[in-house]
Amino acid sequence: MSVEPFAAVDVIAAKRDRHALTDAQIDWVVDAYTRGVVADEQMSALAMAILLNGMTTGEIARWTDAMIASGERMSWTRLSRPTADKHSTGGVGDKITLPLAPLVAACGVAVPQLSGRGLGHTGGTLDKMESIPGWRASLTNDEMFAVLESTGAVICAAGSGLAPADKKLYALRDVTGTVPAIPLIASSIMSKKIAEGTGSLVLDVKTGNGAFMTEPERARELARTMVDLGHAAGVRTVALVTAMDVPLGRTAGNALEVRESVEVLAGGGPADVVELTLRLAEEMLTLAGTRTKDPADALRDGSAMDVWRRMVRAQGGDPEAPLPTAAHVHEVVADADGVLTHLDAIAVGLAAWRLGAGRARQGEPVQAAAGVEWFARPGDVVRRGQPVLALHTDTPERIPSALQALAGGWGVGAEARPTLPLILDRID
Ligand code: URA
Repeated sequence: MSVEPFAAVDVIAAKRDRHALTDAQIDWVVDAYTRGVVADEQMSALAMAILLNGMTTGEIARWTDAMIASGERMSWTRLSRPTADKHSTGGVGDKITLPLAPLVAACGVAVPQLSGRGLGHTGGTLDKMESIPGWRASLTNDEMFAVLESTGAVICAAGSGLAPADKKLYALRDVTGTVPAIPLIASSIMSKKIAEGTGSLVLDVKTGNGAFMTEPERARELARTMVDLGHAAGVRTVALVTAMDVPLGRTAGNALEVRESVEVLAGGGPADVVELTLRLAEEMLTLAGTRTKDPADALRDGSAMDVWRRMVRAQGGDPEAPLPTAAHVHEVVADADGVLTHLDAIAVGLAAWRLGAGRARQGEPVQAAAGVEWFARPGDVVRRGQPVLALHTDTPERIPSALQALAGGWGVGAEARPTLPLILDRID
């Protein structure tokens, strides 16, 4: 039996007592946790000590490297074009990856988008894509390469070989109240993105009531931490801090968001979704250092839509097939004349989740057609009796708890409450 160089309890005590962990301690604890030598209860205690006492920049970088080293590191250098990816810290109605990946591909840069499933009130890209009949999320590395080379973009599940330490730790954090720690979020996201092997990375760090980081200052701090980790790993990285006080677009829910994304690819769609998609595309193309086309033109001339169709087909999906629709749609109407005063992202996200669009535990199924649609944004004029929201679900017994989640999350009155600008900051 090999002798372990540290005892987990000493590493926990060091962080509890506000010391910086040494490189050797970090390398060991991450590796030993992945091997099952450090127990869940010990890692929970360490994660809580990190949440409470923080980490230095050097500790975060080492922790990230240790998580990368726990698994495989992918490489796209055989591809005929440069790669760029984007990662969002998660928001309500955030379907941007769906139109963005084919759009950037249509402009000459390959997008290897290795995604996850949703947990809690923010949706997951794979859950959205899986509402397309036939579409398959799991690909081998060879299949991933083939789709990327032939279509320019691939959206698929991150394999279990990518940062397995993070997979285990993220699941533990989820049930121990230790998700909202900047060192742990930054290292979790960046270990996966660096291991994924993208050459350039644009981060969309959300702030507002529907985001992890409700305060813009905390979002900026998270963005700065992740950008520094990217630079240190040789990945060209930029972050935008963007609004998540109001949900994005007009829909939250899997098939509903695919429908909206296809509208954007067809040259239409909600203004905020189009604006953010184009801005992120610009940032990705600039970082990658090449562009064969202007992104706005690629939406107008149908070339982004062509890539979308090829990309969906390459993974078994039928881009022409009708998307699932819910068995029940419940409209919520305005009870007075006025303007929509507010529409809280968190309320809409919780309602969509309760309608069946999201899961409470990993591995649970989701309803493809469930979700929330809204017909007005803050400041829009609404008339008494006019539908403001529509709740979609296959299980109507969920509607009362969705309505409860929405109570107070929207209103009609004389004046709209202030909202955040769509793009608050850019950090490079
Ligand atoms: N997303 C991740 O991948 N990890 C976190 O810690 C938080 C969000």
